[in-house]
Amino acid sequence: MVLTPPLPPLPPLPSSSSSSSSSSSSSPPPSTSASSAPMGDEAKSSGVDPKLFLDSLSTQSLLEELNRRVECGKKAPRRYILIGPPGSGKGTHAPRLAYEQCGLCHLSTGDILRNVVASGSDLGKKLKATMDAGGLVDDPTMIEVVKTGISNPKCTRGFILDGFPRTVAQAEKLDLMLGESKTKLDGVINFKVDDKLLVDRIVGRRVHPASGRSYHVKFAPPKVEGKDDITGEPLVHRSDDTAEALNKRLGKFHAETQPVINYYGTKGILNNINGDAPLAKVWEQVAAATAAKK
Ligand code: AP5
Repeated sequence: MVLTPPLPPLPPLPSSSSSSSSSSSSSPPPSTSASSAPMGDEAKSSGVDPKLFLDSLSTQSLLEELNRRVECGKKAPRRYILIGPPGSGKGTHAPRLAYEQCGLCHLSTGDILRNVVASGSDLGKKLKATMDAGGLVDDPTMIEVVKTGISNPKCTRGFILDGFPRTVAQAEKLDLMLGESKTKLDGVINFKVDDKLLVDRIVGRRVHPASGRSYHVKFAPPKVEGKDDITGEPLVHRSDDTAEALNKRLGKFHAETQPVINYYGTKGILNNINGDAPLAKVWEQVAAATAAKK
């Protein structure tokens, strides 16, 4: 069985004025949703002719992007894990971190599984039942998913694992895989959020299935209600984003994933951040935890 993760889209270009809503502004985007300009693959997938799109950008913006890419080419690969309970902000901040760290692969195991579910295959039906019930998919399947993902040639600049590992067995297997390729993790970012705040976040979340971009009806609304900012496609409410499934997912998190956090604590690569803070403050902590690694 091969579960192929979607290739990461080129992150959106910061807005043409470097001092405006660029990715370092004080009100960072929910996922990439506050970035208005599709670029490259994003432009293609949104039906915009990339040539016309490039024509619409100022020469200064193009030069800045070119310089950024040249500088990025000089940097060493980086590998991060984002860990935390459901709704803690992993999927919100991962795309921006991927962009700021020069195009790391954002491998969201939840998004990869939802793609399989959307295919309607027998495997997809089995996964859907587990996910909707708030359970965990079995370790061998998840290890296979991540093995395929991190060995993708598009991920040579490194990766962000969002949603993996969730069990100590997955973490140990990841260590073995990284050891075999003589690579290592640069950091594990633990989004700490009080359980009682998560219900509002989960019930109000809306997602763009094709890209995984995440919005919130109250905390991070899209520009047009119910539509993805980049493609204009409809946003959906995830079938496991119910209060009932959340309770089960939280139970699994405390029982199975908290030991993974402890595991990385003993390895000296754990960064605890306060995920209860407003989005901009959470991003500042993510940026600080990864700054020395840029
Ligand atoms: P997955 O998709 O990984 O779900 P999850 O871990 O439960 O995480 P979420 O996507 O719910 O939360 P998030 O932290 O990304 O929150 P977000 O940033 O969107 O997995 C789904 C299922 O797949 C699992 O239950 C399991 O069955 C299976 N699975 C996946 N990986 C597996 C594995 N390794 N092993 C076994 N099974 C696996 O934020 C949530 C909302 O809050 C958004 O609306 C956002 O806008 C808002 N928000 C975020 N931050 C803030 C803030 N600071 N202030 C206000 N609002 C905020």
